[in-house]
Amino acid sequence: MSLQPQQHMYQKGVKHLCENGLTQVPNKYILPKPERPGIFVDDGCINLPVIDFTQLQGADRLRVLASLSKACQEFGFFQLINHGIGDEVTRKMIDVSKEFFELPFEDRQRYMSSDLHAPVRYGTSFNQNNDKVFCWRDFLKLSCHPLQDYSSFWPSSPLDLREAMGEYSKKTQNLYERVMEAILESLGVTNETAIFEQGNQLMMVNWYPACPQPQLTLGLPPHSDYGLLTLLLQDQVEGLQIQHNGKWVTVKPIPNSFVVNIGDQFEIFSNGRYKSVVHRATVNSMKSRLSVASLHSLNAYHNVTPSPILIDDLNPRLYRDTSYADFLDFLSSSDFKCKRFLESRKLH
Ligand code: OGA
Ligand code: NI
Repeated sequence: MSLQPQQHMYQKGVKHLCENGLTQVPNKYILPKPERPGIFVDDGCINLPVIDFTQLQGADRLRVLASLSKACQEFGFFQLINHGIGDEVTRKMIDVSKEFFELPFEDRQRYMSSDLHAPVRYGTSFNQNNDKVFCWRDFLKLSCHPLQDYSSFWPSSPLDLREAMGEYSKKTQNLYERVMEAILESLGVTNETAIFEQGNQLMMVNWYPACPQPQLTLGLPPHSDYGLLTLLLQDQVEGLQIQHNGKWVTVKPIPNSFVVNIGDQFEIFSNGRYKSVVHRATVNSMKSRLSVASLHSLNAYHNVTPSPILIDDLNPRLYRDTSYADFLDFLSSSDFKCKRFLESRKLH
């Protein structure tokens, strides 16, 4: 029997756990066999559809909108290139995030909170208050929009964190608005844009330390994103996998790109045309990995409902009206691990 650290050790996060060297994954992180990622085969990579943001703004817009529509229907995911956010902005975002996770534990601990709505929250696993098996991930979650309401709550160290993350969040919010405009246009819905622009932005900075036995655990369990749209920035380390045609496939990182995916709220709004696809993060034994998810959703007081434009005799309404309270109820209900939120909103 191997010696396992005391339970409360896990609450301090994976980085802390690994600090003194680990050659085995503690039991707390070992998934039941059917849920383990297993050994990866080389052909499990996928080239997601690539959308060129510059082309989308040009004479080719209609053709690019058609590719965008196809990507959202068939994959729920695409990679966005030539998006106009400068390399220095994304590089600073990644560098300052890594510096944050390198701070002494005491400095990070100040931001630990069990309040899911705290404007800044440092933590570990997926939901560390409930998870039976822990995930191999530490995170920093920041509320972002509007920035002036929130950035004073953000960590004051590293010294340039607020500036770098503030700049990054403004740029991604703006990009989100342009991409959302295109997605709505590709659906043929152009009269309902306002509520999508005044929504909520959260930044989830994920840190996946190198793991001695990556085949036994996951960085993030299978999930779909709750909101409208997610813009994911990843460093050049592989880890994101999406479910496609019943298989787990790895998304190959493209330098200077974003992985964009449809969330549950948008699947409901599109009455099921655009898919909120299940994905997960694997970890690896050689390299630690960093990703930043910019999560865009409707304001908590807005209900989401399938767009009437997309409903007719051939396309009956598929989902109930859904409020943020419905989502919170679902999160606190006992079966949340096995069933997707979306399933609970289906009418048939
Ligand atoms: C997320 C997410 C994937 C990744 O933060 O919701 O799915 O690769 N992240 O970190
Ligand atoms: Ni996700």
